[in-house]
Amino acid sequence: LNYQVPRTRKEIFEMLVKGLQRLEYRGYDSAGVAVDGSKKTATDINGNTICLIKKQGKVKALDEELYKKDSLDLDEELYTHFGLAHTRWATHGEPSAVNSHPHRSDKDNEFVVIHNGIITNYKELKKYLISQGYEFESETDTEVIPKLIKYVYDNRESDTVSFSMLVERVIKQLEGAFALVFKSRHFPGEAVSTRRGSPLLIGVRSKFELLTEQIPVQYNSVHFKEGVQEMNSHNRPDSSTALDSEDTSAVEYFFASDASAIIEHTNKVLYLEDDDVAVVKEGKLSIHRMNRQAGEDPIRAIQTLQMELQQIMKGNFDAFMQKEIFEQPESVVNTMRGRICFDTNNVVLGGLKDHLKEIKRCRRLIMIGCGTSFHAAVATRQILEELTELPVMVELASDFLDRYTPVFRDDVCFFISQSGETADTLMALRYCKEHGALTVGITNTVGSSICRETDCGVHINAGPEIGVASTKAYTSQFVALTMFSLMMSEDKLSLQKRRLDIINGLRMLPELIRKVLALDEKIKSIANELYEQRSLLVMGRGFNYATCLEGALKIKEITYMHSEGILAGELKHGPLALIDKDMPVIMLIMKDGCYTKCHNALQQIKARSGRPIIICCQDDYEAIKNAYQTIELPQTVDCLQGILSVIPLQLLSFHLAVLRGFDVDCPRNLAKSVTVE
Ligand code: G6P
Repeated sequence: LNYQVPRTRKEIFEMLVKGLQRLEYRGYDSAGVAVDGSKKTATDINGNTICLIKKQGKVKALDEELYKKDSLDLDEELYTHFGLAHTRWATHGEPSAVNSHPHRSDKDNEFVVIHNGIITNYKELKKYLISQGYEFESETDTEVIPKLIKYVYDNRESDTVSFSMLVERVIKQLEGAFALVFKSRHFPGEAVSTRRGSPLLIGVRSKFELLTEQIPVQYNSVHFKEGVQEMNSHNRPDSSTALDSEDTSAVEYFFASDASAIIEHTNKVLYLEDDDVAVVKEGKLSIHRMNRQAGEDPIRAIQTLQMELQQIMKGNFDAFMQKEIFEQPESVVNTMRGRICFDTNNVVLGGLKDHLKEIKRCRRLIMIGCGTSFHAAVATRQILEELTELPVMVELASDFLDRYTPVFRDDVCFFISQSGETADTLMALRYCKEHGALTVGITNTVGSSICRETDCGVHINAGPEIGVASTKAYTSQFVALTMFSLMMSEDKLSLQKRRLDIINGLRMLPELIRKVLALDEKIKSIANELYEQRSLLVMGRGFNYATCLEGALKIKEITYMHSEGILAGELKHGPLALIDKDMPVIMLIMKDGCYTKCHNALQQIKARSGRPIIICCQDDYEAIKNAYQTIELPQTVDCLQGILSVIPLQLLSFHLAVLRGFDVDCPRNLAKSVTVE
């Protein structure tokens, strides 16, 4: 911060902790902060000390810890201060205080670093640094970074080497993905930050209107040679400032991996690109990078975010997930808003219209995602095949990459991702780009990596999703992909009747979702019967197979019960062996082309003394007669029924998790946005 009005240390702590709490949904096994030591207790010759406070567990545990430090003067007023905070989700090394961030260069905390991502060549770097006498204390990949910057600093050619030069030298040696923020005792009050592959944005809060909304990037022409040994032998001129407000001493900067961490302070943000090095020094922000690449934009524009704080608050609900389930009547409307004209039956996805001709000429569509986003592709595959008359592949990003799937210039590849940051999906995107395919993003996060790196795309506009278990993003992805199939079939005469039925179904959707949500009490009572079970099977086929996969995923994610989504067509090929009177089975039987086949499956279950809970259409007496319990849904067009049929399973998993005593929004071992491979 660099504000005309001083902040007390207590206010700084509160700001850092609040930011972490907003990010807690991304990962939450430990957390830490680094702040300047109190002047009163500073022992350094320059009076600069860095205090590190780290704690295993939730952010709340760290918050309590902060106030136990009596060496830190909470009321001390600071005009310039740079604090770091991080919440960790373990990849290398167990959750513990020592493995949590910030990581440090040495016992005196000369350099401290926070990192989001993964360093793939950390073993080689660690070996080299150990050989040079640097001692490691954690099991993390991240720790090589503070050690490396200290090595570069210790071997610097002169005292004129700036903090950002040191950082540039460090990132030249790193492989993998990272968003990094550095703090150093040698450069008090100065912040240096950089990214490659992991998201990073800078929020700017000024007391005055900013005079410029664009940050020009500074380039330098000095090349660094490869190799750790070479790192201390190069120099480059320092670059100058960029962002000038009327009074630069009245600006606060927020570096964050997600806008929700800073939105309550400012909605003015700029997104850093890979290998940008951003520096805040004496109240001025500057961005530089090594060399300008062909076609690269030399400007980072400050954007105004539309996200409101109350959008990410829980409101009257007990959990974000519950709030998000109940938001679905509105979130699906937001996905359709301005895109479907119900008078003319026109469907226009603005982000795709310039590429429509090319898409229509393609040889196949490939839909790629992970987790729930993959299920949205499974759910819409059939209608996409029917209305586009193209072959459609649906792919889990990791498996797609493992197989080195052949991709051609005339393929169109869709990348479906709520966060827009999932590493596997992002890597699949880069792979498809390298093979010359047209790439399309379907994301919920404006400015995310997938948005920026695809050729074109659709924002699903579901609003921020905080609960780790995805709910409203799924139904909005479903709607967006269905709209795409409608847009592709606009000029096909034989498909017009089908299109009209679907458009009509979309128009009625919010009302029907409300009717399904009204079944909450009934679903809660079913949860009461089931919550002590160990397993739960979910079975269906056709348009509702994806519902089974997604319902089972919700159940395992937040209730930790074993749950499997089973294709009813496969029942005889294995799953039937699981059925007896004690195995809880949920069956989806909807009035569509698979209705009779689903009833056959039901008979097979009954014949093995199974006691099925059936999700069916209202007044399906045949199903009701054979069921142990039923959840009756309003009927809609077959290809949209999956939007309605998934909601009872979202609600069921929520109630089961509550009854089993688990934290619904923060399931163990999972993170909202998985930015590592
Ligand atoms: C994680 C989350 C899932 C999510 C998946 C894909 O595993 O826990 O809820 O479905 O990532 O995330 P994305 O942001 O790409 O949709």
